Amino acid sequence: MQHQPHGTPGSIPLERPEPIVRVDQIGWVIFEKPDLAATGRFLEDFGLTRVDAAGPEHLFRGAGTLPYLYVARPASRAGFVGTGFLVRRREDLERLAETSGRAIEDLERPGGGSCVRLRDPDGRLVEVAHGVALVDPLPTRTAPLPVNTPFEKRRVGSAQRPPLEPAAVVRLGHCVVGSTRFAETARWYMRHLGLRATDVQCLADGRPALAFLRPDRGKEPADHHAFVVGFGLRDEFLHCAFEVLDLDALGQGQQVLRRGGWKHAWGIGRHLLGSQLFDYWRDPDGHEHEHYTDGDVFDDTRETEYSRLEMGGLWQWGVDLPKDFGPRPSPAMLGALARGLVSRRIDFHTLAQLAQLARTPARPWLR
Ligand SMILES: [Fe+2]
Repeated sequence: MQHQPHGTPGSIPLERPEPIVRVDQIGWVIFEKPDLAATGRFLEDFGLTRVDAAGPEHLFRGAGTLPYLYVARPASRAGFVGTGFLVRRREDLERLAETSGRAIEDLERPGGGSCVRLRDPDGRLVEVAHGVALVDPLPTRTAPLPVNTPFEKRRVGSAQRPPLEPAAVVRLGHCVVGSTRFAETARWYMRHLGLRATDVQCLADGRPALAFLRPDRGKEPADHHAFVVGFGLRDEFLHCAFEVLDLDALGQGQQVLRRGGWKHAWGIGRHLLGSQLFDYWRDPDGHEHEHYTDGDVFDDTRETEYSRLEMGGLWQWGVDLPKDFGPRPSPAMLGALARGLVSRRIDFHTLAQLAQLARTPARPWLR
């Protein structure tokens, strides 16, 4: 893929609306889960830690300082509910409440704080929070293992023995969704949360179809993406990604998940946009969860870059993308597709371009 500094010629810019507030970071994901015991077993093998909390929600934290990264609500069917983001100032919540007509509510979870609860155009919950009290980090390895190179032997007289233990998840990095209202949904996140596009990938006719959005933290660097919206044949959750320390944590974490009998989804490899080393797993309900390490960060000097949406843009190296990764054909998807065509949110021209995309080679450098 030709990845040019300011964009592939013919790309149509994604309009950036004036933000209401600028969030500082993504904080947590919220799911509905029919089998909370199985969800808990998966998350603990994945490297999260259960938090004691009153109320019906089951909470899980990482080794970092947020009191929870994962909220599981009891329900008869599994589903993705939404995300939580954090703002630095109480005034941001007040402005968001005033603009949206929503109330400021108490967050009744460990750490307290307040939040404004919004719904994105597809109906997902977005909790924008302030004042959540941080907790002490959990003890974990904080420096990568010493590595010997051909030029420098930093480890003399000792063997490399990364511990066989769950990859300690430190924080939530990002969440990825598909939306039938791609442009409207991407605009909504930029407007309500102040996210800005780091990379935008476009269909062959130049229309944006995948937006990698990061918090606007000014001169402080932010992850390449904290939220990603892609054009979808239906509105759906695609994956959530959690940051671990290094490649050895990723690899030994994989060993633990294999031992637990969980379903591997894709990896290990290195992404292109964001550069993360990645490894994807499915929870008991099929929701994809990513371990990653060594991702890119950018400050506000990074302008949006545009490129063509191609299979080869997904990863730089690693095992092949499995055929069952991501959205899978199902009766529900066909129904959603039919409704999308009837409502004209999806058209045959776009479908043809998506079909063309699916035929692009995953490894163009092998051509
Ligand atoms: Fe990801």
